[in-house]
Amino acid sequence: QQARIGLIGLGTMGAALALNIADNGFPIAVWNRTTEVTRRFADAAGDLATRIVPTESLQDLVAAIARPRAIILMVPAGQAVDDQLQALAPLLEADDLVIDAGNADFHDTNRRDAADLPFRFLGMGVSGGEEGARHGPAIMGGGRAEDWDRVAPVMTAIAARADDGTLCAARMGDAGAGHFVKMVHNGIEYADMQMIAEVYGLMRDGLALESQAISDIFARWNEGTLSSYLIEISAKVTAARDPLTGQPMPDVILDRAGQKGTGRWTAIEAQHLAAPIPVIEAAVMARNVSARLEERRAGQDRFGAAPGPVALDADALERALIAGKILCYAQGFTMIARASEGFGWTLDLPGIARVWRAGCIIRSAMLNDMADALAQDPGRNLVLAPFFADLIEASLPALRQVVSQGIAAGHALPALASGLTWFDMMRTARGTANLIQAQRDFFGAHGFDRLDGADRHHGPWGQSA
Ligand code: 6PG
Repeated sequence: QQARIGLIGLGTMGAALALNIADNGFPIAVWNRTTEVTRRFADAAGDLATRIVPTESLQDLVAAIARPRAIILMVPAGQAVDDQLQALAPLLEADDLVIDAGNADFHDTNRRDAADLPFRFLGMGVSGGEEGARHGPAIMGGGRAEDWDRVAPVMTAIAARADDGTLCAARMGDAGAGHFVKMVHNGIEYADMQMIAEVYGLMRDGLALESQAISDIFARWNEGTLSSYLIEISAKVTAARDPLTGQPMPDVILDRAGQKGTGRWTAIEAQHLAAPIPVIEAAVMARNVSARLEERRAGQDRFGAAPGPVALDADALERALIAGKILCYAQGFTMIARASEGFGWTLDLPGIARVWRAGCIIRSAMLNDMADALAQDPGRNLVLAPFFADLIEASLPALRQVVSQGIAAGHALPALASGLTWFDMMRTARGTANLIQAQRDFFGAHGFDRLDGADRHHGPWGQSA
C-alpha cells in the first residue's frame, strides 16, 4: 500500500504533524536528512507505526507515495526550502505537489510560486506549536485552489476545530497569501505576549506581587473576556517552580527574548504597506531591546533601577489588557485588508478570524466576536464595530490610567502605550499634521491642501521667512 502523503523534515513540528496525519488514518511516508532521526521517529511511533513509512533516501520517499504525490516540507525557512525543492525537482512529476509548511517569508513563497518549478507548489502557514501540530493546528494555505482542494481532505482531518465545530484550516488566497496571514498571526502573537508581559511587570514591580499571586490573577482573567491560550499559559508559567532552586520559574529566567523573525517581518511589511501597526512594532522593538542585556545593565548602573510602585488594581489591569488587545487586533486586521488590496488578494477577514479561533497560539474567546464583527462589515475598522466600540469605551479609561500611572512610575509599557497613542490619533479628526505639511511646504515647496478647499496650495513663506 502506498502512502497518501509524504513529509520531509522530522524536527519537532514535522514529527508532530506526521503523527497527527497518521493518527487521522492517512498512511504517510517520511524522510529526514539524518537517517537516524527517521529511524528514531518510526521506532517511537507506537501504534501509529503501521501507517508510517520511514524512508532513507529522497528517491525512496518519492517512490513510497501514491500518485499524484503530495509532499509536505517542514524544514527551516529560507535556503533549506530552496535546496529541498531543487533536490526534489528531478524526482517529481508535473502533477506532484510540494507544500511548504514552514514559517516561510511570504515573498519567498510568491517567488517560488512564480518560479518554473517542475511540480505544483503550495505555501502553508501552520500554527499551534508542537501540541497544535500533533493534535490540531490552525492551517493557513496559499496557492492555487485546485492544489489546495487536493490536500484539503488531509488538512481538514488534522486541523483544529473551533467550539462550534468550524474548521480552522482554509485557503487564504494565491501564492504567498497563507504565509502572509501566518506572518501577521505571529506579529499579533508578539504583541499579545508583550502586552501580557507589560502587565506582568506592573504586577511584579509596581504591585510587588509574588509569582503565584500573579498566576492566580491570570487564571481568573482566563475565565473572562481575556480567555485565551496565551493568558492560560501565562498562569501556568507563573505558577511553575524551578526544580533546581524551588523559586518561581519566571524568577530564574533571563529577560532576553529570542525571535526567529516573523514578528520583525510583519513590522517591516507594515511599513511597506503604510499600515499602522504600532502595537506589533513596539513588541518587536521590545524584544530587540531585551536582547541588549549588557547595555541595559550599563543603563541601570548609570541611571538607577527604574520602576516604582503603582496604585492599580487587577481589574484595571485586566481592562487595560482588553483595550490593548482590541487595538492590536484592529491594527493587524487593517494591515491584512491593506495587503489584500495591495497584492491583489481577496483575503477573507472574518474567515481569518475564524481560522485563528482554535489550534493556533493566538486563539482566544475574543476572536469569536471579532469574526462576527468583521463578518458584519469587513471594511470597517474593528474599533468602530458596535460591539468593540462599546468594549473600548468601557475599558479605555483603565488603559489610560494604567499607561499614565505606569509611565509616571518608570515602567516601560511600549505596546500598551503605543496602542493608546494610536487610538488617540485615530479618534482625532483634526490632528497636527497640518504643521508637518506647512514645514514640508516651507523647505521643499511640497504643497498642501487647505481646510476651506480653496485652490491655493503654498504658504507665504518667502515673505515671512
Ligand atoms: C506558531 C508560532 C510559531 C513560532 C514560534 C516562535 O504559530 O505556532 O508562531 O510558528 O515559530 O512561536 O517564534 P519566535 O521564535 O519568533 O518567537
